[in-house]
Amino acid sequence: MGPPGDRRSQAPGPPSVKRVLVAYETMAGSTVEVAQAIGEELARSGLQVEVRPIGEVRDLRGYDAVVVGAPMILGWHRSARRFLRRHRQALQQIPLAVFVMVIIRATAGDRRNWPAIRAWAAGLPAALGLELPQPETFASNP
Ligand SMILES: Cc1cc2nc3c(=O)[nH]c(=O)nc-3n(C[C@H](O)[C@H](O)[C@H](O)COP(=O)(O)O)c2cc1C
Repeated sequence: MGPPGDRRSQAPGPPSVKRVLVAYETMAGSTVEVAQAIGEELARSGLQVEVRPIGEVRDLRGYDAVVVGAPMILGWHRSARRFLRRHRQALQQIPLAVFVMVIIRATAGDRRNWPAIRAWAAGLPAALGLELPQPETFASNP
């Protein structure tokens, strides 16, 4: 029934660990740090995660979900918009989450809300419909 090239999720045996790409664009470095924190949370859930600059991503084959993050630079950074256009077809087959970095009116200091960022990331597997491995199948606990 399914089209050729169906993903292997219905193969018998234990489900393979899902692979997630966190692709980011950054100018001054704040977005890459957020992307890394999101990647850490996803890995803590037992997912296989790659955090990569958007410019390095050639295709989305092999990923079960994608997270794209970029700053507002007079609109969402153009490379992020281009990424969504370029991979439009692939992104119709797998779940996508995006995050946007914006200016905050503050004189100085890091105004990123790290607990909120990590909480958002921790909720992503469920939001993206990603099966997680059973806790005993991956080493997350000391
Ligand atoms: C040239 C420039 C244009 C920007 N334009 C916007 C904007 O239109 N809206 C906004 O909310 N933030 C804007 N910002 C703020 C950035 O989105 C914000 O500082 C972001 O954290 C930068 O991410 P990065 O450190 O990963 O480069 C702009 C920043 C720069 C340097």
